[in-house]
Amino acid sequence: MGNPWEKIKLDDYENHMSLESVYQLQALNEMMKGQLQSEKVSSVMILGVAGGNGLEHIHTDRIKKVYGVDVNRDFLVQCGNRYGYLGNIFEPICADLLRDDIQLPHADLLVANLLVEYIGYPCFQRVATMVAPRYISCIIQINTGDSFVSDSPYLHAFDGLGEVHHQMEEDALTNHVQEIGYVLSGRMERSLPNGKKFVQFDFVKQ
Ligand SMILES: C[S@@+](CC[C@H](N)C(=O)[O-])C[C@H]1O[C@@H](n2cnc3c(N)ncnc32)[C@H](O)[C@@H]1O
Repeated sequence: MGNPWEKIKLDDYENHMSLESVYQLQALNEMMKGQLQSEKVSSVMILGVAGGNGLEHIHTDRIKKVYGVDVNRDFLVQCGNRYGYLGNIFEPICADLLRDDIQLPHADLLVANLLVEYIGYPCFQRVATMVAPRYISCIIQINTGDSFVSDSPYLHAFDGLGEVHHQMEEDALTNHVQEIGYVLSGRMERSLPNGKKFVQFDFVKQ
């Protein structure tokens, strides 16, 4: 059985996420600008890169490799087309992170925005250990309302995601990342419409 994310169309995802009443694509884009600012990294891996939201903040004078990982091959094709100017710097990797037979290269910084929700903590620990980054930056969504997907005309496009969705808890995420040898170096919140919020956690290797 495939991953339900493989059936989602990029237009539906992005149209939903960028609605004024959702505003998550825009918020993620701004937060990613900050995540990509560190002077100390020359390679980045973005887990769940989708259509490449935020990749325009890559400074090619400093960052020489960007791996974009996603289970949806079509997302990666569209991402590659949008950011063609990155040339060989951008390398798409089509992989289902839930599978334990995947191989991923090393990157200095591992970014996982709204991704741990879809793979769970133990799988994220396994992936992060394999990539062995110096820095990890994650954004999770904290729901104060009923559903993890905000109401919108595109809602039914996401019907299958309940099968793979895990509710995130701040302490559980930080404990799992600390367990694999990282310390928390920063935490930032951003409010969203609909009573939801994003929380960003930055970790550095001990
Ligand atoms: C909520 S979206 C996050 C998108 C993105 N980070 C952003 O800023 O808009 C989750 C992304 O993770 C991908 N994804 C979900 N489960 C995955 C898995 N098991 N393996 C690889 N990618 C996965 C989805 O295809 C989707 O692109």
